Amino acid sequence: MQTAGPGTCPALAPLLLLLWAGAGVSAVSAMPRDPPLFNVSLDVAPELRWLPVLQHFDLDFLRNFIVQVIGEKIPKWVHAVMRKAVKELEGSLPQPYTNEIRGMCDVLNLSLADCLLPNLLYEFTAFCTSIVAQDSRGNIYHGRNLDYAFGDFFRKMTVNVQFLKNGQIAFTGTTFIGYVGLWTGQRPYKFTISGNERDKGWLWQNVIAAFFQRHSPVSWLIRTTLSESENFEEAVYKLAKTPLIADVYYIVGGMSPREGVVITRKRSGPADIWPLDPLNGAWFRVETNYDHWKPAPEKDDRRTPAIKALNAMGPANLTLEALYQVLSVFPVYNNITIYTTVMSAASPEKYMTRIRNLD
Ligand SMILES: *[C@@H]1O[C@H](CO)[C@@H](O)[C@H](O)[C@H]1NC(C)=O
Ligand SMILES: *[C@@H]1O[C@H](CO)[C@@H](O)[C@H](O)[C@H]1NC(C)=O
Ligand SMILES: *[C@@H]1O[C@H](CO)[C@@H](O)[C@H](O)[C@H]1NC(C)=O
Ligand SMILES: *[C@@H]1O[C@H](CO)[C@@H](O)[C@H](O)[C@H]1NC(C)=O
Repeated sequence: MQTAGPGTCPALAPLLLLLWAGAGVSAVSAMPRDPPLFNVSLDVAPELRWLPVLQHFDLDFLRNFIVQVIGEKIPKWVHAVMRKAVKELEGSLPQPYTNEIRGMCDVLNLSLADCLLPNLLYEFTAFCTSIVAQDSRGNIYHGRNLDYAFGDFFRKMTVNVQFLKNGQIAFTGTTFIGYVGLWTGQRPYKFTISGNERDKGWLWQNVIAAFFQRHSPVSWLIRTTLSESENFEEAVYKLAKTPLIADVYYIVGGMSPREGVVITRKRSGPADIWPLDPLNGAWFRVETNYDHWKPAPEKDDRRTPAIKALNAMGPANLTLEALYQVLSVFPVYNNITIYTTVMSAASPEKYMTRIRNLD
């Protein structure tokens, strides 16, 4: 059984990290567990900054996974084109992401193209649920489940990362080791962001074409926004307008009442902006993987159970723990859920990720 016991915050994580490192990556537990927490310093050169983190992982395991994903998920011609294009365009690919990937690739003895491809591969079977909500006192909470294929791999590779600038925490996020973008993150005392897949039947050729037209991978834009935007409005603006290589839903939470929104993205710009409207009863927004103005498909309706659980709770009872419970209701929580994160920009020390389905 998954018994949720939230409350362990990043302050405890260095201890957990020691325990975890001692047990090695094969450590498993029947209980949800906190992923290890690492600092990555943005003051260190991009090629070098992830290497201390990488040391904690089984590099053969990681390398074999990348080779397997490329073999299974990426058409041969795409691989060939990428190898050629990366060589030609190397100097002009987006930074710091490209150099961070290059640094890790060198350690893994893989080519830059081999490591870049999995970083662009944004859905195999990504189903997610994100919720942004306001309690009756005006506090904003944000939670997400990340549901994905390859769970055996990703559960072992999930990390919380604090990105440091001048020795201070500039932003925090949850990712998989080797994956330099973020699907979940927080800029302390400013805003929180999560991303959910929006499946428009994208094709590899379109993704690659857009990438070389300098459109941003969706997870890189989350990280760039966490790094650069100074407040909720700036973050929403950047997430809404920056050209992307694929469609996506961005969910953003802020610091003040009504600062919560679901942005439905086309590659070129926003398709829809759906803010909280607590004065009219809309104290939460639930986004799964379907446009909110259309009904959720019957065969994958995680939206209705989430809404039911939120309504049963009520805005007076909303806390991060209560939100975690909503994200633990079947089928919002399901057998491919990899992790659950709950966060609130106004209380950054409460950022909490739990790895799920560990048994
Ligand atoms: C990369 O190659 C070097 C030298 O051949 C080797 O020592 C190292 O173990 C390799 N690393 C991996 C992850 O295969
Ligand atoms: C990460 O950096 C912060 C800020 O400098 C520091 O307080 C903390 O101890 C570091 N944590 C780890 C796990 O190294
Ligand atoms: C919220 O909590 C209060 C007690 O704190 C309870 O009376 C109420 O029924 C709960 N649920 C709703 C929907 O408000
Ligand atoms: C998850 O559950 C569904 C039914 O709800 C089942 O069809 C599927 O095989 C399960 N997947 C895994 C990885 O256990």
